[in-house]
Amino acid sequence: MPIRFEKVDFEYSPETPFAFKALTDINLELAMDKMTAIIGATGSGKTTLVQHLNALLLPTAGQVTVLDWQIKAGQKFTKVKDLRHRVGLVFQFAEYQLFEETVLKDVCFGPQNFGVSEEEAVKIARESLKIVGIAESDFEKSPLELSGGQKRRVAIAGILAMKPQILVLDEPTAGLDPQGAENMMELFRKINKENGITVLIVTHNMEHVLQYCDEVVVLEKGQLLMQTDIKTFFENYEYMEKANINPPAIIRFKELLRKNGLEISSDVLDIDSLAKEIAGRYRK
Ligand SMILES: Nc1ncnc2c1ncn2[C@@H]1O[C@H](COP(=O)(O)OP(=O)(O)OP(=O)(O)O)[C@@H](O)[C@H]1O
Ligand SMILES: [Mg+2]
Repeated sequence: MPIRFEKVDFEYSPETPFAFKALTDINLELAMDKMTAIIGATGSGKTTLVQHLNALLLPTAGQVTVLDWQIKAGQKFTKVKDLRHRVGLVFQFAEYQLFEETVLKDVCFGPQNFGVSEEEAVKIARESLKIVGIAESDFEKSPLELSGGQKRRVAIAGILAMKPQILVLDEPTAGLDPQGAENMMELFRKINKENGITVLIVTHNMEHVLQYCDEVVVLEKGQLLMQTDIKTFFENYEYMEKANINPPAIIRFKELLRKNGLEISSDVLDIDSLAKEIAGRYRK
């Protein structure tokens, strides 16, 4: 069950003076069951790309395949509701989308909209809220009474409650404090590894990409610059330079050690193994 972009172009406001081509000739196949980071400079087309996955935007050329559905340029796509049931998209600042009187009702909205009974919806909503770490004592509160981070968790629970196969997150940790952002990333890892949901995450945070993701897709000015696994990406300093990326601290440190004559194994990608490797050499 693939996610595939074939020769995809996307133009905003075509045939108007404001026409702007935001994606050009994107050919891309994304691995299922993995956690994939979508990175690139501001304005490179990340949000535009991911909004194709649940047909918020339709390609102006080429085609997008998501699970069993094909979305082709110039053809009406009639399965929007089915698609959105399976592909959950969490916007940046998703908390602005909360609108029900209570947290629980908000999370019930999605499943009920997809035909689940009220009783079943409440059950699913409670489970989803637990997964994202919202306390039972908050279920009957108004979403307005929660902190920004909690609101975002509720919005994510609302998407999870629809039991998507693919979860797409557009800068989900933007504006959170560092610990809140780490917790959020841990949550996505859990959703990916334990619940088997494919996770695509748009982010500017290279530490998160290194620590949590399996694959990386790099966009530049609306084009696909590269797609590779995390290890290959962070092993190759020239990849990061090409992608105009400031590497995570550990990668910079490794590169400085190398420049100073101390070669560190390419498998070393976290601080614990780096410490062990350096200490090991001193002991010798
Ligand atoms: N509604 C729109 N109408 C016209 N142009 C748009 C619209 N939305 C985005 N664009 C343009 O398309 C390009 C890609 O925008 P997009 O939002 O996909 O970038 P992004 O990579 O998500 O950036 P950021 O990291 O800032 O979120 C940008 O040049 C942007 O100005
Ligand atoms: Mg964006």
